[in-house]
Amino acid sequence: MVEAAVDDMSTIVSLCKRRGFIFPSSEIYGGLGSTWDYGPLGVELKRNVKDAWWRAVVRDRDDMVGQDSAILMHPQTWVASGHVEGFSDPLIECRECHHRFRADHVDSKTCPDCGAVDRFTAPRQFNLMFKTFLGPVEDEAAVVYLRPETAQGMFVNFQNVQTSARMKVPFGIAQVGKSFRNEITPGNFTFRTREFEQMEIEYFVRPDQGFEYLEIWKNERMRWYTDYGINPERLKLREHDSDELAHYAKATFDIEYLFPIGWSELEGIAYRGDFDLSQHEKHSGKSMSYFDTERDERFIPHVVEPSGGVDRALLAFLVDAFTEEEVRGEKRTVLKLHKDLAPYKIAVLPLSKNEKLIPKAREVHDLIRHRWMTEYDDTQSIGRRYRRQDEIGTPLCVTVDFETVEEDNAVTIRDRDSMEQVRVSIPDLVAALDERLGG
Ligand code: GAP
Repeated sequence: MVEAAVDDMSTIVSLCKRRGFIFPSSEIYGGLGSTWDYGPLGVELKRNVKDAWWRAVVRDRDDMVGQDSAILMHPQTWVASGHVEGFSDPLIECRECHHRFRADHVDSKTCPDCGAVDRFTAPRQFNLMFKTFLGPVEDEAAVVYLRPETAQGMFVNFQNVQTSARMKVPFGIAQVGKSFRNEITPGNFTFRTREFEQMEIEYFVRPDQGFEYLEIWKNERMRWYTDYGINPERLKLREHDSDELAHYAKATFDIEYLFPIGWSELEGIAYRGDFDLSQHEKHSGKSMSYFDTERDERFIPHVVEPSGGVDRALLAFLVDAFTEEEVRGEKRTVLKLHKDLAPYKIAVLPLSKNEKLIPKAREVHDLIRHRWMTEYDDTQSIGRRYRRQDEIGTPLCVTVDFETVEEDNAVTIRDRDSMEQVRVSIPDLVAALDERLGG
């Protein structure tokens, strides 16, 4: 039976804190429940995840374009989308400890926090949208919401994008950005938070093409995760039962990953029919239809929506890359991240903090730093520096030693995974790195 790459999330949480991937938010004030800040390595990894996605779904395709819409949208958007009415979870409260839970996250009559039995209140629906006010007057007329999904920004711009970019159905819009949900029970590190980032696609098709493109996108999206290194045995597609489907969906498949907390949703791929565009047409009074000149047909396009979380994808890549090995009797921790995702691609390391080696190592660093994200490090012993780079997933280390300055003007390239070392002359270094890293 397949097992999670890491059995305890705390292993990843502590690596992230120690090495500067992810910190608890506002930590000096005791933190703010389930909010997290990405540190120097986390921000690089996150950017690389988003870039890898953007490359696959926008840059490499003729049928997709991007956009970046505002977080605050006209409040009618959320009436039309059904979020004001129905974007809620069932909330229960323990009458003893007054802690609140999502009813569907508690599987017995016993309070998970204080152990009281049969003391829950009846479930009531709790809307997950964060409310705020536009402008200085805090009244009902000024209420706006922090978007709970980026999707609606693409639906309301359907006509703007289609006409300005001269797109023909089938085509898609992609967007990456923050979303906010006042989750009742956030937790499991960055898996469920109240502020998170989404990578979403709204793919517009003819009404008779919905199920066909649902299949296409299921395969595309599964492939993306495995292309970037996720073990296919820890990924699966799970179809939603009819009673689980969101109000807008005709069919939905979740891509699930075997996290340390068990199989959990990484991304949802939903066939939304024409629900959203029809609703916006109805509520705005503006046409959301499309005229297909080749078939001489006017229709409201149907939508297939692959919607993933940046933070969840990042967490899955981290967990799946985490490896502990024994090398010559010693434990080695390696993050075997795909080279395109790794925060630093190359570390330049003088063998020791020697006055002859440092200027040469700096020179080598200057030669490559504009091309790849790199780190220069001359602290501690070389062994400890290799271990640190392994632990943060740097694919290559370039070491400058005494032979470099005294004999051959060459450096050693060390490979993270095989630990093989090869000698390369400095004039050939960029080509040698290019061959290994590309990009
Ligand atoms: N527009 C469709 C939509 O938003 P969703 O299944 O609610 O669908 C899509 O969310 C993805 O966003 C999820 O698969 C997950 O990766 C991410 N996501 C949703 N809620 C999240 C949360 N509270 N924390 C972190 N990621 C979340």
